[in-house]
Amino acid sequence: MKTTVSLIKADVGGFPGHVSVHPDLMDVAEKELMRAKAEQLIIDYHVLRAGDDLQLLMSHSNGCDNKDVHELAWNTFKKATEVAKDLKLYGAGQDMLSDAFSGNIRGMGPGSAEMEFTERKAEPIIAFMMDKTEPGAFNLPIYKMFASPENTSGLVIDPSCHNGFRFEIWDIMEHKRVFMNAPEELYSMLALIGAKSRYVIKRVFPKEGGKLPANEPAAAISTDKLYQIAGEYVGKDDPVALVRGQSGLPAVGEILEAFAFPHLVSGWMRGSHNGPLMPVSFENAICTRFDGPPRVIAAGFQLSNGRLVGPMDMFDDPAFDYTRRMAQEIAEYMRRHGAFEPHRLPLEDMEYTTLPGVMNKLKDRFRYIG
Ligand code: F6R
Ligand code: MG
Ligand code: MG
Repeated sequence: MKTTVSLIKADVGGFPGHVSVHPDLMDVAEKELMRAKAEQLIIDYHVLRAGDDLQLLMSHSNGCDNKDVHELAWNTFKKATEVAKDLKLYGAGQDMLSDAFSGNIRGMGPGSAEMEFTERKAEPIIAFMMDKTEPGAFNLPIYKMFASPENTSGLVIDPSCHNGFRFEIWDIMEHKRVFMNAPEELYSMLALIGAKSRYVIKRVFPKEGGKLPANEPAAAISTDKLYQIAGEYVGKDDPVALVRGQSGLPAVGEILEAFAFPHLVSGWMRGSHNGPLMPVSFENAICTRFDGPPRVIAAGFQLSNGRLVGPMDMFDDPAFDYTRRMAQEIAEYMRRHGAFEPHRLPLEDMEYTTLPGVMNKLKDRFRYIG
């Protein structure tokens, strides 16, 4: 039997401002998914929140891009939007960019990461959820997990990982994709994924001839670019990812180790600033200081015939205190730049924000220098 895990998320109203999700929205989602479980559309589910994003984690046997599962997510977000409107939450329905569901949630505003695979004898899976940042924020940690021997010692000392992995990379501007093998093509791969605002890791696969089927992903990342969908800036994408671990894949500890360095990502206040990505517990997944700093939570599960056994709050651990302290220092350092780059994003990345409106007001005042 193959299991599908779908992680679908949307910001349908913040509380207060863009900080967190109101508990009433979580209750709506809980009720909707409980009913879908009773009706056997899904096997299991968990409702989570990361910053102002409502997260629906679902397991089922319907495959990726399943209309009924996507419609369930869409209708759940719609119902949550109604409650958000009633409570006058901030930006109610912000990510619901379409009036009616049209068969697939992709391109309609919410973000999604999905994988279908054959469940192994024991199947650890980690769901990562970020707030106040972009899909490319996953490039560095996913690269570290599956391609960096400095991070993942299994690549060096475990024969079942030693052949490396295959990466599916998307050019999100031109809507093209390329498959690349690590470690053989590592330098070319880094030429792309180091430019994280354009080239985004979409999936990672085991290689042919290994322990695991080469066509079943080991990791999947959401790549929905809200501003390209909406035609105008409506917030950063706040991406999510699913990563399977152990027995021929990076160990759970290697997967988490990839977040021990709080790397700089774009997003934060007004989706317009670079700042450190801070791994936090579920409880601390609230974006307060300058609407941030950008955060990531990790929910760990064992899958048991589709049942999501968990979650374990993976960053709720003093082992990540040092990372958090470092993130706070970096946050302070970046904030001291005020309105200046590289804290503020470069102009080309501000094209889809509210800045062009300000520039417009100034344009008639410019005169040639001569
Ligand atoms: C970032 C984000 C917030 C808002 C900011 C201004 O993704 O959502 O930082 O951009 O709070 O929000 P508005 O323009 O709605 O007042
Ligand atoms: Mg918001
Ligand atoms: Mg958000």
